[in-house]
Amino acid sequence: MKDEFVSTVSHELRTPLTSINGSLAILSKSSEGRLDQTGQQMLDIAIRNIDRLNRLINDILDIEKLGSGSVVMHVQRLELAELLSCVVNENRPFANTHGVDVQLELPDEPVLVLGDQGRLVQAVTNLIANACKFSPPGAIVDVSCQKADGRAIIEVQDTGPGIPVEFRPHVFQRFAQASPDHQQGRSGSGLGLAITKAIIEQHEGNIGFDSVVGSGSRFWLTLPLLGEQS
Ligand SMILES: Nc1ncnc2c1ncn2[C@@H]1O[C@H](COP(=O)(O)OP(=O)(O)O)[C@@H](O)[C@H]1O
Ligand SMILES: [Mg+2]
Repeated sequence: MKDEFVSTVSHELRTPLTSINGSLAILSKSSEGRLDQTGQQMLDIAIRNIDRLNRLINDILDIEKLGSGSVVMHVQRLELAELLSCVVNENRPFANTHGVDVQLELPDEPVLVLGDQGRLVQAVTNLIANACKFSPPGAIVDVSCQKADGRAIIEVQDTGPGIPVEFRPHVFQRFAQASPDHQQGRSGSGLGLAITKAIIEQHEGNIGFDSVVGSGSRFWLTLPLLGEQS
């Protein structure tokens, strides 16, 4: 599929989607307590799936924009420990829906970088969401941040199934997902890591992972520390 075609269609889908979104929100509010059980279930299904479609379309538009270099990064001075604390707290409810908890380990001193806050939050959120989705219930996802050689290193470690060896070369490709056996019905589009990589590379950072099948995965990303670029 041509990228341009996909992004044009995605743009065109946005207007009717916004309208459906609005209508469903009004319907949901105005029908509070007035729908029978089946009606309420149908409405919940519609809302859940519109959310999914919205996320997919935003991801398609994002990867297209990031790939063409047309995303303007609103770069500012950021303290990563603070940013990570917020991201972890915001993602804990999602983790809990998978029966998972997230732990954060931070250095004692501030970790300063230059970056686009929203985009870096998006990148780390993608890694945490994957780790939670692929963790067994009761597991802990460990998020940490450290400094080494003029770079900040953020790591997200899980105790999930690991990345199948044959899938490793494709992990950061658009729409890439491992076999249905690995996915086990977990939701997603296969765009998250492609978006994350594009964001990190636009920050002059690197992204990678280590994984042991049956034991878990550790995704890491690095960013140049402010004032310590070599
Ligand atoms: N922590 C992880 N553990 C196991 N597999 C993973 C993990 N993170 C990513 N993957 C694999 O890489 C694929 C691509 O991830 P991503 O680009 O975030 O897409 P999505 O989450 O929408 O499927 C996942 O569908 C899964 O097959
Ligand atoms: Mg993902």
